[in-house]
Amino acid sequence: MNLKGRNFLKIKDFSPEEIEYLITLSEELKQKKKQGVLHEELRGKNIALIFEKTSTRTRCSFEVAAHDLGMHVTYLDPSGSQIGKKESIRDTARVLGRMYDGIEYRGFGQEIVEELAEYAGVPVWNGLTNEFHPTQMIADMLTVKEKLGHLKGIKFVYMGDARYNMGNSLMVTCAKLGMEFVACTSKAYFPEQELVDYCLEIAKQTGASITLTEDVLTGTQDADVIYTDVWVSMGEPDQVWESRIKELMPYQVNKKIMENAKESAIFMHCLPAFHDLETTIGKQIYEKFGLTEMEVTNEVFESSQSVVFDEAENRMHSIKAIMYATLK
Ligand code: CP
Ligand code: NVA
Repeated sequence: MNLKGRNFLKIKDFSPEEIEYLITLSEELKQKKKQGVLHEELRGKNIALIFEKTSTRTRCSFEVAAHDLGMHVTYLDPSGSQIGKKESIRDTARVLGRMYDGIEYRGFGQEIVEELAEYAGVPVWNGLTNEFHPTQMIADMLTVKEKLGHLKGIKFVYMGDARYNMGNSLMVTCAKLGMEFVACTSKAYFPEQELVDYCLEIAKQTGASITLTEDVLTGTQDADVIYTDVWVSMGEPDQVWESRIKELMPYQVNKKIMENAKESAIFMHCLPAFHDLETTIGKQIYEKFGLTEMEVTNEVFESSQSVVFDEAENRMHSIKAIMYATLK
């Protein structure tokens, strides 16, 4: 498998074999790290991290992974560069491409990261756009594989806003890997039909299935994985909270949902999550709407079925694999 020089912009661009290869490479690099085996195999290389939205996991994963591989990192925060305000993406790409061996970009529209990649001349990695979150996919599938032993045939249920970056990416990934994907949410939050049709075509070749349902009981029944994400994503206006709460509350992940899933089911979330009142936004929502928890109850989040912190750790190992595969 040779992915050298490739961009990592969305899972759609990768074959099932390539995705599986990245998961396996993540496992190998994780093992090396755990065993204390040095793997500074990209020494002398430099990467730039552009974040137009905030981050904890993705930024730290790129930085730690780069350091472990022997690389140097420049971080450009949402206000710390000329990007967009004084300089176009196309010009930025052509400048950074002259200095860096790879560029990570987190921002808004998918077309921006695609344009960056078109002009940079070095691998560009998508650290999240409105439409897709591909690095998260390798970490998530690595986590499912570690916890449940395999991927094919796994019933993977996504609850909440299924038409944004996480729902879209998980549906495509499950389709490619022959899994049973279920978007269990209100109709208004189903992924776009065009993407659903694309996944249905892929599913014919991989043996996957794609189901969209509003019915919580059948949707989550005998699930292997219950997955959710925040109801309002970065960059969306505060005004949408009210309708999101009203429309998505029936799809909150709680004990009843977990009891309807398999006994062996795991709970996953890309994080950050609103499961208590320990955050500024969590407190504001409580004051305005009286809710103490949102997309997932604290009970489920803190339960033994919850694998969210293993999943977060896997972001680092999988981002390392993605950089290694595209640069080595
Ligand atoms: N899951 C994820 O991408 O987290 P951050 O926003 O903290 O990077
Ligand atoms: N849907 C979320 C994912 C965060 C990792 C967002 O875009 O804010």
